[in-house]
Amino acid sequence: MATISELFDLSGKSTIVTGGGTGIGQAISMRLAEAGASVMITDINLEAGNQTVEMIKADGGKAQAIQADASSSSDAKKTAQATIDAFGRIDILVNNAGIYPVSPVMEISEALWDRVLDLNLKGTFLYAQSIAEVMIKTGQGGKIINMASVDGMRPTGLVAHYNASKGGVIMLTKAMALELAPHRILVNAVAPGGIITTGTAQTGVEMQQATGKSLEQMAEDISKRMPLGRMGEPDEVARVVLFLASRCADYMTGEIVVVDGGYLLS
Ligand SMILES: NC(=O)c1ccc[n+]([C@@H]2O[C@H](COP(=O)([O-])OP(=O)(O)OC[C@H]3O[C@@H](n4cnc5c(N)ncnc54)[C@H](O)[C@@H]3O)[C@@H](O)[C@H]2O)c1
Repeated sequence: MATISELFDLSGKSTIVTGGGTGIGQAISMRLAEAGASVMITDINLEAGNQTVEMIKADGGKAQAIQADASSSSDAKKTAQATIDAFGRIDILVNNAGIYPVSPVMEISEALWDRVLDLNLKGTFLYAQSIAEVMIKTGQGGKIINMASVDGMRPTGLVAHYNASKGGVIMLTKAMALELAPHRILVNAVAPGGIITTGTAQTGVEMQQATGKSLEQMAEDISKRMPLGRMGEPDEVARVVLFLASRCADYMTGEIVVVDGGYLLS
């Protein structure tokens, strides 16, 4: 029987994390590298991606960054090739990149709808499809972990486009899990809620403009709604992604793991 450290050992595994330059994606990249995996970090912001690489290398890990748009099919293929060139194989894809701009539903323009759905939902599909193609060809199986959200399960207002995109990610995760199971490709998702990142700081500013509430008032409102009484840290999501990437989750597919401090209970 494998020991606990063997179960979490990702030595020799090659992983891709989209949007790994900051926030949750950076925390995931750091944990996967700490477990021994080589990490290809993609980001539209190459400087941010390179910063994560430097942090991983400083800790003795293996990583490279590539500038790639997580909504582009050609960049998905470019990322797959760059990962094979760098690390020789692909074992794990984490579809993390996503945006959540605030807008009242009656003011969502077609362009904004397309921007959010193109990245959060279509991009998740395009990257999963491109990487699964490689995994099917090599016949080695693999793992795909998508970033859903509590917003894909319950609306809270002012992000209907985002709610729709993450609801789509949840169903895409289950549909791909079903069809890819014969290839031993496991597809799961994590659904975080209320994690402190650069992205949520920006949302706070946008919500302030939309609601007229102060940032302090909104932070207090959010913490009050959290049964655990606080917002979460990116690493608290990364640890759950590490679990799904590890051998501990080898009999799980099509699952959505909520990491929200109990928010959906409130
Ligand atoms: N923070 C939360 O509370 C929370 C809750 C639920 C779900 N999520 C999801 O987690 C993921 C990460 O969120 P975060 O809060 O860390 O975001 P963030 O904005 O802090 O970081 C996102 C990263 O993705 C990169 N990025 C943006 N657009 C990109 C594109 N087109 N291609 C490649 N990279 C791109 C950014 O440069 C940045 O490095 C998103 O999918 C988000 O929807 C976050």
